[in-house]
Amino acid sequence: MTISEKINSLKQEKDVVILAHYYVDGEVQEIADYVGDSYALAKKAALVDKQNILFAGVSFMGESAKLLNPSKHVYMVDDTAGCGMADMINAEQVKAVRKQYPDAAVVCYVNSSAEVKAESDVCVTSSNAVKVVSGMEQKQIYFIPDSHLAHFVAESLPEKEFIYHDGYCPIHQMIDNESLVRAKEKYPNALVLSHPECAEDILKLSDFVGSTADIIKFAREDMAQEYIIATETGVFHQLKKENPNKQFYPVNDCQICMDMKKVTMEKIESILENLEAQKEIILDENIMEQAKKPLEQMLVLAK
Ligand code: 13P
Ligand code: SF4
Repeated sequence: MTISEKINSLKQEKDVVILAHYYVDGEVQEIADYVGDSYALAKKAALVDKQNILFAGVSFMGESAKLLNPSKHVYMVDDTAGCGMADMINAEQVKAVRKQYPDAAVVCYVNSSAEVKAESDVCVTSSNAVKVVSGMEQKQIYFIPDSHLAHFVAESLPEKEFIYHDGYCPIHQMIDNESLVRAKEKYPNALVLSHPECAEDILKLSDFVGSTADIIKFAREDMAQEYIIATETGVFHQLKKENPNKQFYPVNDCQICMDMKKVTMEKIESILENLEAQKEIILDENIMEQAKKPLEQMLVLAK
């Protein structure tokens, strides 16, 4: 029996659904029941009917699944897999800014802890941020923690007034202008597809900006043959699988989220073999009550 066959049989036996983000290794994406961007995964998590969710991603994704479907047991493949950006803001900082700007809506990128979500009015992901923020009645928007996504959204919504936090994704931050200019010179026919977590100078040089799922959709429907991809290289698995005759190039060799790479087939197999002994995600009752509201509000406004 191969490791994939073993995992598939254990999933049935233990009543487990595996949700995976596009940034995890291709072989993990292949054995997952569902692969998606953060928005699609949140929607899927809310509807899971199996008893157990095994999350192949980073901690804020597992926490969101627990918040949206609290009666399920949610496990992380590696519970040390965190998000550098999510760690750039805490609940106390949000409370302080709220005091300073009492009329502002706190819009929280889903890449954040449950404690930070609990202090927020609404959550967004990269694929629905413009739509959700445009549906907010408040004019002033305190957007946390990603300053690049905030600027991207602000550009589309000039009628809103943005208050920025200085967070960023350490991986997308390493996608630099010089490397992109070099890649464009090397592949002059390639279109540049970027994630909105990239810095503004990268987005300006891009032909398309969108979430991981949006980038995959664009490449599927577009007629070009070559693409420079400015996001984590896990997306190359779906891009190549869906477009075997097209070429995809990274901007540089820094586009790797080491936390996503902590998710391995061996860990999945070992967790499933001994699921009963695993530590599931447990959140404080009060935090859960507060933190699920902005996530549910996102699902309503993003529809
Ligand atoms: P998506 O919302 O595109 O899945 O991105 C999540 C993420 O962590 C990007 O770094
Ligand atoms: Fe967080 Fe960046 Fe990794 Fe996405 S790529 S999970 S934002 S550290």
